[in-house]
Amino acid sequence: MSIDGWTVEKALKVGITMETGAYNLYTETSKKVKNPGSKQLLKELAGDEAKHKVYFETALKDPKKVINEAKGGDLKKVMDLHISDPLKEAPLSPDASYQDTLIFAAKSEQIAVDFYTALSKAYSAHPLGKMWADFAKMEQGHKLKIEKEYDDVVLADN
Ligand SMILES: [Fe+2]
Ligand SMILES: [Fe+2]
Repeated sequence: MSIDGWTVEKALKVGITMETGAYNLYTETSKKVKNPGSKQLLKELAGDEAKHKVYFETALKDPKKVINEAKGGDLKKVMDLHISDPLKEAPLSPDASYQDTLIFAAKSEQIAVDFYTALSKAYSAHPLGKMWADFAKMEQGHKLKIEKEYDDVVLADN
């Protein structure tokens, strides 16, 4: 399923929802894990997602400014991102293991990468394209950290 009718506002709103979900996931998991290294990693990731959320919230307060800065009178045109709705993922069960949580987190980061990459392409002619590309890169970095954590902690324990 693809989504039609994306606007800057809608993209920012979906971004805020995704970043909030990621922040909550990392915050809650950081409270549950015992391993100090894991706790530290999860807190760092939560901190990153909180910053991303604030960045989008600030942009959303004045989307006209964002649009003007992007010099994109046509940014409001209907877009088809050719991706699934990033908010349609099944939620994580509350009693999921740390292993399941990391798999879920890596999947969520990949969805974020795909979403921001699609936006960066849709906005490629505008400075906003760089903003979305930067976010895609940061979420890619998160996914790598999660995968490394999976290798270091989950595989080492088994
Ligand atoms: Fe993020
Ligand atoms: Fe992330």
